[in-house]
Amino acid sequence: MKRVLFVVLSALLAGLFFFALVRDQMREWTGIQWKFMKTLHKEEKQGLTGGIKQVIINDLNRVDRCTTCHIAIDKPQLALAEEPFTAHPGKYLEWHPIDKFGCTVCHGGQGLATEVKAAHGDVAHWEEPLLRGPLVQASCRQCHGNLSELSSYVPLLIKGKELFKEKGCYGCHAIKDFGQTVSVDLGEVGSKSHQLMEADFENMPHPHNRIHWMMTKLHNPRTLNPGVTADHLPLGEEEVFPTGMPNFSLTDEEIQALTVYLLSLTDANPPVSYTIPPEPELVKTFDNDVARGYAVFEKLGCAGCHGPEGLGGRRNWNNGLGEEAPSLIYVKAYYENNVESLKTLIRNGRQPAPRMNVKRPNPALYMPAWKDKMTESEFNALVAYLFSLAERLPSSPVAPQAPAVSETPAPAAQ
Ligand code: HEC
Ligand code: HEC
Ligand code: HEC
Ligand code: HEC
Ligand code: HEC
Repeated sequence: MKRVLFVVLSALLAGLFFFALVRDQMREWTGIQWKFMKTLHKEEKQGLTGGIKQVIINDLNRVDRCTTCHIAIDKPQLALAEEPFTAHPGKYLEWHPIDKFGCTVCHGGQGLATEVKAAHGDVAHWEEPLLRGPLVQASCRQCHGNLSELSSYVPLLIKGKELFKEKGCYGCHAIKDFGQTVSVDLGEVGSKSHQLMEADFENMPHPHNRIHWMMTKLHNPRTLNPGVTADHLPLGEEEVFPTGMPNFSLTDEEIQALTVYLLSLTDANPPVSYTIPPEPELVKTFDNDVARGYAVFEKLGCAGCHGPEGLGGRRNWNNGLGEEAPSLIYVKAYYENNVESLKTLIRNGRQPAPRMNVKRPNPALYMPAWKDKMTESEFNALVAYLFSLAERLPSSPVAPQAPAVSETPAPAAQ
């Protein structure tokens, strides 16, 4: 009996051993390496070794095993047409040698992993998704201060940065120490865990990663922050308005550019030996005060709430002024004879006009205070720009209506 047991157990052990051996051989990367080797001539194989390849870069705190599968990435002479066997496009690996840079510093993903999905960050709880194609431009900013010199390599990053200003994102969001604090600071949004984002996860589409999350937000901010209407709440609880973030009706290309820019805003802090210092900022000159004032208007992000050029307000639920932030076209008519009160209003901000419906909550958007955000001469130029908007009024003899709000500014916004 004992002997039978011994034989059975031994057979089982041998079986397990064999199973482990086969499983090891069948790991995804072994299959991939084998497939690659099979295509090479004998002489081509010389010097190529199998096994897990890894680059350890202490300075960047990274261990990357990507070349285990991307085996010809720096060997154009061996590269085949299909991924992962292609050679790297461009001269990126010449400028950034693999042993000093690795791959994940530019591409994200999970350096240590040796399975395709895991390595490409396409698994639950891995925050850094693989940056493919043009999205890789998001990584350059962590080291390169000389972005305009690199403009032909990073067109989307540069476009995203411009759009951020042009659309008026700064009117609600700060990036580090510049911009308003109406909503969250986006200074490190590119390394923020998506679970910490202010979003309703039921509406979060798959895959649950940062790239997808940002694109959804920019496509339509309400998808992730739809609010809750009173009839879905217990009696007596206040409704929650949908997000105060406007829908900018962005094109797919604009969404991609803004996503690249947002992804580039990280907490990465590479050692000085890896960085290229920023180039000095150009000082712009302007023909007149109105043009200069428009630059101030754009820089500060007034368009975020008052629309492009200040001509159309954004949605502001339950605001007495027709549920919108006001258009600034009548500013001259209201304030021409009282420039000081206009300046006080802009300096101190203003809580919104009376609610349209007193039973519903306060509007989310208010006029923030700008007193520390511009110089006196920028301020005067801004006023000149706002007054110039009157020229856009249709030339009808009808005088503008009296302002819906008292001209004396209410206590400053928080
Ligand atoms: C286990 C093998 C394996 C590992 C490890 C691996 N990859 Fe890949 N990679 C592939 C395969 C297979 C493809 C082609 C299929 C695909 O796009 O998912 C690919 C595709 C890619 C592409 C996109 C190519 C395209 O045309 O879009 C990039 C970029 C990439 N890998 C980067 C990386 C980086 C960076 C790492 C390390 C963090 C890595 N890979 C690790 C197997 C691997
Ligand atoms: C300095 C940043 C940088 C580093 C380091 C880098 N790449 Fe890339 N990689 C890029 C850029 C940028 C592109 C896109 C080039 C283009 O589209 O012209 C790219 C493209 C690719 C592609 C082609 C598919 C695609 O997504 O466009 C693959 C595959 C790839 N890289 C893999 C790797 C691997 C593997 C490593 C590490 C050995 C690596 N890269 C290191 C910047 C980098
Ligand atoms: C981890 C830091 C780091 C990242 C990320 C990085 N680079 Fe670089 N890059 C460098 C360093 C360092 C040099 C070498 C600079 C030198 O030699 O003066 C360099 C060199 C270059 C050069 C050659 C410049 C020249 O004058 O020869 C180009 C072009 C370039 N990088 C583009 C990019 C692009 C595009 C990206 C993003 C896809 C990128 N780099 C990402 C650090 C980085
Ligand atoms: C009128 C104010 C306003 C403007 C202008 C605005 N946002 Fe927002 N944004 C918000 C609010 C409020 C939130 C908080 C979440 C929510 O309620 O949607 C938010 C959230 C975000 C988030 C998520 C941040 C996080 O960590 O949760 C991103 C990313 C974002 N905005 C990007 C932008 C970009 C890019 C622009 C310009 C194209 C922009 N926003 C313009 C009000 C604004
Ligand atoms: C976060 C949104 C937001 C931003 C950004 C913003 N405003 Fe406002 N602004 C408002 C709201 C809301 C009101 C209406 C307040 C009320 O209901 O009384 C307002 C009112 C005004 C008014 C008074 C209009 C009137 O009809 O009396 C002026 C002028 C004005 N803003 C100028 C600016 C300028 C200039 C900037 C940029 C420096 C700016 N705003 C940025 C939200 C904003």
